[in-house]
Amino acid sequence: MNDEHRIEANRKLWNTRVSLHLASKFYDVPGFLQGKSSLCGIEVDEIGPVTGKSLLHLQCHFGQDTLSWARLGANVTGVDFSPEAIAAAKSLADQASLKAEFVEADVLDLPHSLDGRFDIVFTSFGTIGWLPDLDRWAAGIRRALKPGGFFYMIDLHKTFLILDPETGGVKYDYFGKDGPDEEITGKTYADGLTHEALPEYWWNHTFESLFRALRNAGLNFEEFREYPFCVYELADTMDEIAPGRWVYRSLGGRIPYMYSIRARG
Ligand SMILES: C[S@@+](CC[C@H](N)C(=O)[O-])C[C@H]1O[C@@H](n2cnc3c(N)ncnc32)[C@H](O)[C@@H]1O
Repeated sequence: MNDEHRIEANRKLWNTRVSLHLASKFYDVPGFLQGKSSLCGIEVDEIGPVTGKSLLHLQCHFGQDTLSWARLGANVTGVDFSPEAIAAAKSLADQASLKAEFVEADVLDLPHSLDGRFDIVFTSFGTIGWLPDLDRWAAGIRRALKPGGFFYMIDLHKTFLILDPETGGVKYDYFGKDGPDEEITGKTYADGLTHEALPEYWWNHTFESLFRALRNAGLNFEEFREYPFCVYELADTMDEIAPGRWVYRSLGGRIPYMYSIRARG
């Protein structure tokens, strides 16, 4: 099997999850339609005012975060490779009466129609692990930015992801193996909802490979931050230590759970 087939399998998985996520408590679409932002707040503070800025959201899923940026005044475009997600995003924009463009595309092959158009390229929570080639991803980000625009990402930290949620011990290799991990999964992180068993492929990128790809694309680092909490309750072995701040009961704030990066084009 090659990466094209793996991406196809991942697309099937994400298509399957869209309707479950739309109905999940995790995503709280009714709350969003009543005006609640789906952004965690950290990215809003770190990106700063977006009024009148053009913002490209990569891996936008069904567009809730994209549309939350639109409510803050950004001119938004969301990209996702799942046709189900893009159809749901367009419908959500209509329901919320928000203006947004949604484009169905692989983020490794961003259409040239997006080149040079954006003040901000944004991606968050569940990003590079789905991508086999960070050089192609970073080159697309660079192309999409206007001169002087910046890229911002926030995601779960590798230190958190390699731990066993039950024991707090190391379960996975930080450096991983050559090639992707394959898992058969019938469950999603949103409320633990179940679906047909499907293969998923996950690429185990290190920070070294992430930073190298961004640098090779010509992006200059401005910030790298790490957080001693997670903004999601991703296991029942986690405690909420402050509103929306979750940590493993056994580890507390001794490890980083999330990171953010800002780099300028
Ligand atoms: C965990 S979600 C992240 C979304 C966002 N943080 C959220 O929770 O709404 C991952 C998204 O990446 C998309 N995705 C995965 N691989 C992709 C690829 N190669 N190109 C574009 N989108 C991709 C999936 O369709 C899914 O919507």
